[in-house]
Amino acid sequence: MSRQRIAVLLNETIGTISPYLHGEFAEHLGECIYPGIWVGEDSPIPNIGGIRRDVVDALHPLGIPVLRWPGGCFADAYHWRDGIGPRNKRPLRVNYHWGMAPEPNHFGTHEFITFCRLIGAEPYIVGNVGSGTPAELRDWVEYCNFAGDSALANERRANGADEPFRVRFWGVGNENWGCGGNMHPEYYAELFCRYRTFLFNYSDTPIHAIACGAAGSDWDWTWKFLNALKRKGWSRRHLVNSLAAHYYCGTAGTATQYTTEQWTELLCRAKAIEGIITGHRTVMDELDPEQKINLIIDEWGAWHPAEPDKPGWGLYQQNTIRDALVAALTLDIFHRHCHQIFMGNLAQLINVLQSLLLVQEDRCIKTPTYHVWHMYAPHKGAQAVRFETLSDTLSDGGAVRDFCRQQYLQREPFSLQVIEGSASVRENTLCITFCNTHPEQPAEVEVLVMGATVQEAEAVVLSADDIHAHNTFEQPERVKPSAPQPVRVEGDRLYITAPAGSVVRILGKLPS
Ligand code: AHR
Repeated sequence: MSRQRIAVLLNETIGTISPYLHGEFAEHLGECIYPGIWVGEDSPIPNIGGIRRDVVDALHPLGIPVLRWPGGCFADAYHWRDGIGPRNKRPLRVNYHWGMAPEPNHFGTHEFITFCRLIGAEPYIVGNVGSGTPAELRDWVEYCNFAGDSALANERRANGADEPFRVRFWGVGNENWGCGGNMHPEYYAELFCRYRTFLFNYSDTPIHAIACGAAGSDWDWTWKFLNALKRKGWSRRHLVNSLAAHYYCGTAGTATQYTTEQWTELLCRAKAIEGIITGHRTVMDELDPEQKINLIIDEWGAWHPAEPDKPGWGLYQQNTIRDALVAALTLDIFHRHCHQIFMGNLAQLINVLQSLLLVQEDRCIKTPTYHVWHMYAPHKGAQAVRFETLSDTLSDGGAVRDFCRQQYLQREPFSLQVIEGSASVRENTLCITFCNTHPEQPAEVEVLVMGATVQEAEAVVLSADDIHAHNTFEQPERVKPSAPQPVRVEGDRLYITAPAGSVVRILGKLPS
């Protein structure tokens, strides 16, 4: 057992934690949409108008704030008209990017909006820049959002939706430096302005336009894209509401097989997202010192080799307690940098990459990452306060640290602490979350709370007896949070034991 100390400084506020930092992403890829969400009305699997009921029941309590769709790479090959109207008349297409799989188009715009409403998420639609046209995207916005009288709005009504969908978040392409068209940043900037010009506010919901940002630490993309916009005349700057970078921490070993060194290596890679945020924000602040343009991390998470019994292109992966720590570390970083980042979307919702749920036939299980989403929910919309770790550091042997230094991901030497976390306050509730990142040693953690006295506190702990533990259809509850347990409070200190490789959430009552 090691002894670790953290401090929470209630009087040092960082900012409001945007609820959108707990966002999600669902792409037409592998088994995410079919059968992850959509099984069809005639399916023996219980459904709500074709949408799986078990998935809705599992996701609704999470209060997922935003759901990005239809891609990913799929977005720049997708034509929205294929996905409206009677389903038996919709064309069968090929999913070019993902295994040339058949795309029946049964899950289209109306089904997406229905799904968002069922789980309580705000829709975020990504338009097709790579193989589409500005008119196609303009028409999609009008179809979705126009409250008045027009052929497109009336077509939406004929398809069953009298009221406009009022979609606020619109992505102008995805990864346009890669699968979205292999563009240079200056060329994409021209295209962005062209598309953006026709993204009209068709309703009382103003468009929030999201531009394609960089891959990981490609600061050059951010600099050149924003500079190109600046050269066109800074008055156009307000047209970009957010810039969305992607960062996947990848893998070390496989999804379920890894050494303790690989455990630490993956967590170090996950922690590198902190440098991605501060790096892009630094570049953005040079050109946009008033921070009118938000930073988004549009896709993030672990990317392991696909499970051996599944096709590689389907990106189906298991999810262990290690992935739960990847999620927890990342959300804690988002909270600590909530003054610099507006939205974050985990890739992806179901059956693909670091998912919240895995479904098979009529069964649906929650992954360890799902439980982190649930445990971390009280942070959404709360005031982040300073969280300082005074604990030991862990090393992965130098590989990731050297990579991060080379990439300028961290200005300080890279390190992973045994205890990493974040804290926030809403009214008289203090929420503290942290990981014990050590794969073998439990930690006796002393939490010093400065600025007010915690009256009482309780903790929920997500841990496992094996660092490879995960949930399966045979053992769906192997990894799940503990029941709430009281935390020892002594003056300005809280004491809790964090098992090796665990995620902890403490909720404390502050004086009103
Ligand atoms: O999430 C899987 C893929 O990763 C997305 O389609 C693409 O945007 C990214 O490269």
